[in-house]
Amino acid sequence: MDYFNYHKGELHAEGVQLSALADVIGTPFYCYSSAALVHYFKVFADAVSALDATICFAIKANSNIAVLATLERLGAGADVVSQGEMQRALEAGIDPKKIIFSGVGKSRQELQAALVAGVTRFNVESLSELEVLSAVADTHGQMAEVSLRVNPDVDARTHEKIATGRQEDKFGIDLSLARGAYRRARALPGIDVSGVAMHIGSQLTELDPFRIAYSRMADFVGVLREDGHTIRHLDLGGGLGITYKDEKVPTPEAYGAMVAETIGGLGCKLTFEPGRVIAGNAGILLTRVNFMKEGTAKTFCIVDAAMNDLIRPTLYNAHHDIVRVAEAMDHESLKVMDIVGPICESGDYIAKNRGMPSVTSGDLLAIRSAGAYGAVMSSTYNTRPLIPEVLVEGDEYAVIRRRFEVADMLALERLPPWLSGSRISAANVVGK
Ligand code: LLP
Repeated sequence: MDYFNYHKGELHAEGVQLSALADVIGTPFYCYSSAALVHYFKVFADAVSALDATICFAIKANSNIAVLATLERLGAGADVVSQGEMQRALEAGIDPKKIIFSGVGKSRQELQAALVAGVTRFNVESLSELEVLSAVADTHGQMAEVSLRVNPDVDARTHEKIATGRQEDKFGIDLSLARGAYRRARALPGIDVSGVAMHIGSQLTELDPFRIAYSRMADFVGVLREDGHTIRHLDLGGGLGITYKDEKVPTPEAYGAMVAETIGGLGCKLTFEPGRVIAGNAGILLTRVNFMKEGTAKTFCIVDAAMNDLIRPTLYNAHHDIVRVAEAMDHESLKVMDIVGPICESGDYIAKNRGMPSVTSGDLLAIRSAGAYGAVMSSTYNTRPLIPEVLVEGDEYAVIRRRFEVADMLALERLPPWLSGSRISAANVVGK
């Protein structure tokens, strides 16, 4: 199912013509389809509907509050990893009871803010964190409902930087050490240790690593129960991959069936934390070609989006399909080029050696599969203002984050008093 289609030779997001949108908004910008978000959420929800499960969208994938509010209406909770993400989830109307606070390095202040906000479910990743959480909860006269995140030592066979379930990764508590951690947790006053959590990595394109990890989890639940722990919750993380290019990924249905097989018989409430599989193919990044440049070795297509807007190609060598907004004709031959941004480093590219139909200055291009880990990972490198996000529904659209202005950035900065002088704006001097 695709919500970005050509009508009369022009790419649309649902019923909205993208070239018309670009004229109003300016480029670059992110554009999400509501119908796509709803579709991908429902497909996942249907796939796990036979299980007693809550879907807590991993909002690190896309944390715009309009996107979160769209998913909240479908019953989604949220998996958050910072106070900021928690505030976004609450702002979007997500019930604090459906928010899970995950993350390997939560601060005391964040734990406290969560408890005050009524967020009481935590995935804890170390003994030190357990002690701090217990103390904070106890001071507030509360009990934190804790799942310990265990590290099953399974290779997710994904990109090195997003594999999280091997012993050498910083995440979770080694399975071999986890029994002791549960014993310690049970002795702490502010902790109700009633679950086990796991997340072995992201963009998994095979079920086998999940199957191995979840089987280890099931065995471990048996051990914990023998030790006298009451285990009521299992958090299975996220990680299901999507098709960026031609990857054959497992369907949510197949994933759901595998979960039922490995974990279904344990009588636990389940939590899933999908991110990419919901949002990834629900968004594009629209960009305009600034210049074409022919070199001796290469042709460069210089666009107005850059690595600060979408860092995935630079950081993970990730592939994103790129299409012309004006539909390519069948007879157009492809020309190989690098699609690059205006940033001053050679790592600034969106695609290398990509076969493209004819492109010239002024053309609009759509970078596909950019709805997850796109806008959320952007920066202002080279003092490039953060770009807008637009949400489409049917033939309506709304700007759900406005374009930043350079003035927004400069307003955050201050000169120390010793640099103040007649050529410097008084407003930017510390103390003024
Ligand atoms: N739960 C936990 C504890 C996680 O760490 C993550 C992702 C998820 C759930 C959601 O995983 P998903 O279903 O989206 O695969 N920036 C990288 C991806 C980093 C993922 C980090 N953790 C990228 O652009 O590919």
